[in-house]
Amino acid sequence: MNILWFALPFTRFAFGKLSCRCLYGEKCWPKVKDFSDLASQLSQPLLHPKPPGSACYPPDSPSENCSKVMVNMHNSHWRSDQSGSMQAPNFETHTFLNGTISACYIDTMPSFPCTQGSIPEIGVDARSIQDVQAAVKFSLKHTLRLVIKNTGHDYLGRSTARGGFLLWMHNLKNITYNLAFVPSGAPPDRYYQALTVGAGVQWHEAYEAAETHGRVVLGATAGSIGAGGGWIMGGGHGALAARHGLGVDNVLEFEVVTAGGVFLTVNAYKNPDLFWALRGGGGGTYAVVLSTTYVTHDPVPLTIVTGLVNFKSPVVAKRVITEFVRILPSLADSTGWGGYAFLSRNELSLLLVAPNITVDDADATLEPFFTFTKSVTVGGVVQHNTTHFDSFYSWYSATFSTDGETGTNVELGSRLIPRNLAEHNPETVADAMLALPHSCRINFVAGGAVSSVDPEATGLHPDWRKAIALVYYADGWEDKAYASLIESARKRIRKSLEILGRLGSATYFNEASLYEKDPQETFFGSHYKRLKVIRDKYDPVGLLVVAGGVGSEDWDHSLNCRR
Ligand SMILES: Cc1cc2nc3c(=O)[nH]c(=O)nc-3n(C[C@H](O)[C@H](O)[C@H](O)COP(=O)(O)OP(=O)(O)OC[C@H]3O[C@@H](n4cnc5c(N)ncnc54)[C@H](O)[C@@H]3O)c2cc1C
Ligand SMILES: *[C@@H]1O[C@H](CO)[C@@H](O)[C@H](O)[C@H]1NC(C)=O
Ligand SMILES: *[C@@H]1O[C@H](CO)[C@@H](O)[C@H](O)[C@H]1NC(C)=O
Ligand SMILES: *[C@@H]1O[C@H](CO)[C@@H](O)[C@H](O)[C@H]1NC(C)=O
Ligand SMILES: *[C@@H]1O[C@H](CO)[C@@H](O)[C@H](O)[C@H]1NC(C)=O
Ligand SMILES: *[C@@H]1O[C@H](CO)[C@@H](O)[C@H](O)[C@H]1NC(C)=O
Repeated sequence: MNILWFALPFTRFAFGKLSCRCLYGEKCWPKVKDFSDLASQLSQPLLHPKPPGSACYPPDSPSENCSKVMVNMHNSHWRSDQSGSMQAPNFETHTFLNGTISACYIDTMPSFPCTQGSIPEIGVDARSIQDVQAAVKFSLKHTLRLVIKNTGHDYLGRSTARGGFLLWMHNLKNITYNLAFVPSGAPPDRYYQALTVGAGVQWHEAYEAAETHGRVVLGATAGSIGAGGGWIMGGGHGALAARHGLGVDNVLEFEVVTAGGVFLTVNAYKNPDLFWALRGGGGGTYAVVLSTTYVTHDPVPLTIVTGLVNFKSPVVAKRVITEFVRILPSLADSTGWGGYAFLSRNELSLLLVAPNITVDDADATLEPFFTFTKSVTVGGVVQHNTTHFDSFYSWYSATFSTDGETGTNVELGSRLIPRNLAEHNPETVADAMLALPHSCRINFVAGGAVSSVDPEATGLHPDWRKAIALVYYADGWEDKAYASLIESARKRIRKSLEILGRLGSATYFNEASLYEKDPQETFFGSHYKRLKVIRDKYDPVGLLVVAGGVGSEDWDHSLNCRR
């Protein structure tokens, strides 16, 4: 008998017999008594998540909290503090097969009542291992649709589900710094200056803690993203990735509760198969992560280059973008440059980060690019500014302290850009970007240290190691849009996948589309089979399933019924 399942020998059969999960409103839904038994095992009262707009209903007499909602609806930190909020409100809604939408729009409409949409009705506010174990066991016993939620940033809405049962990780806020962390089971001379973050810690909190100890940790650029949730399990990129690797290359250890309710320490020495899978095999799939321990680095000064190129014609756009793409591999490989670019029909705007490089050296490095750009951009604007910062933290706090414009409806289409293509055929990359229905974003977060890691060392799609950047197309719509308008945005996203598909077949699980034709191949490549074996070992009943995640193909589109 599999040891992970010893504690719950019978539940294994539950999903086998019932081919569907039990949703809120169905006869099988647990009774009041079941919930009160559960509540008695928890450190906190049960949660009853509400969509954020609910405070503004009924429209003729909204609650006193409605004004707070109006002020904060685009604040990503405020959104992550609400158990019933996603960062993108489209994931809070649910569209029925007949096209009717269940939602709770913040901008109210008397004829449109506030309904729960895709927000789970009830859940657990986890503060301890025991809380997580109780939630997992309760979900198994009642065959519920368990959803693990941290900050709600997921671009495929994986941290919510209509009629589901919520496991909210947000308040697991412990942070510890250890000068000589030895992974459990490792030889005592294997020690690291390490930062351990609880599952609810967000990057701005982790950065601040690292700074307090004179260290830096590789994290996301948006500070409201979780430091120990979906970000790390999907791969985790940041501006310093070419210097320090991806998030998955910086993890020393996880603590988890498996789908069977068993607490495990997971690292290179203990449960190494699960350690491999949790590093890039996708969040919400193998186990519930309670804490993540990261290696920390010496801080170095940074040079930041911002740039703006305004093109007057498509021909100029293509020449500038081709040149920009062409120089990315050498920037990342030589000295660990990274950053971001935003490209529209008329403009390329740049935010480049050069770690441990002086302002003079950074300017000298980019001089040929800007000279070329000026020479081809006749009549257009070319500006750039170079700024010195003492450390990552000083840049981060100066630039991102007011983090986060979220709260708009958004879905993505994306691809990794192979370094080979960038080096030898950058025109193809430029053509694809310019063929998109509108603007796109380039996350220049690969190459350098990301490329020097053995592709087999983690569960992450191996093509990440041969990539230089990620390009994504984002589309959206206004609240209250009709289903037909939403469908046309989704058509453009499908179109973007066709176009970006010319660049390659791989993308980043965390910045991706719901409409990929072959998510297994696109998100995991040759690692898929091994990930599936590990997934089935640690979660044989399929308690933990997310859109496009490993094992999701065994379930129907709703992820509630077995195929
Ligand atoms: C504004 C914005 C900026 C972004 N910037 C970056 C960036 O700089 N770098 C980058 O790499 N990505 C970035 N992303 C993408 C980001 O990595 C994903 O949205 C990621 O899923 C967020 O993880 P989370 O835990 O914060 O969010 P959530 O939406 O709460 O969770 C994401 C997924 O992880 C699962 N999960 C969460 N916690 C746990 C847990 N403890 N155990 C098991 N499963 C869990 C959830 O079930 C869900 O499937 C950005 C996204 C947005 C919206
Ligand atoms: C308003 O918000 C506070 C704090 O979030 C909450 O305790 C209170 O119940 C809310 N009031 C209403 C009427 O929803
Ligand atoms: C669409 O389906 C939902 C759910 O079954 C139902 O509540 C709603 O009334 C239907 N709307 C229309 C216009 O048929
Ligand atoms: C968080 O830290 C406190 C104090 O060290 C400890 O008692 C508690 O068990 C920790 N919580 C978790 C979930 O690790
Ligand atoms: C460069 O700095 C000037 C002066 O502060 C500013 O007006 C301009 O917008 C900046 N340009 C870029 C691309 O950052
Ligand atoms: C930063 O660069 C300087 C000068 O090139 C070098 O001596 C130093 O070792 C570098 N520091 C780190 C931490 O890489």
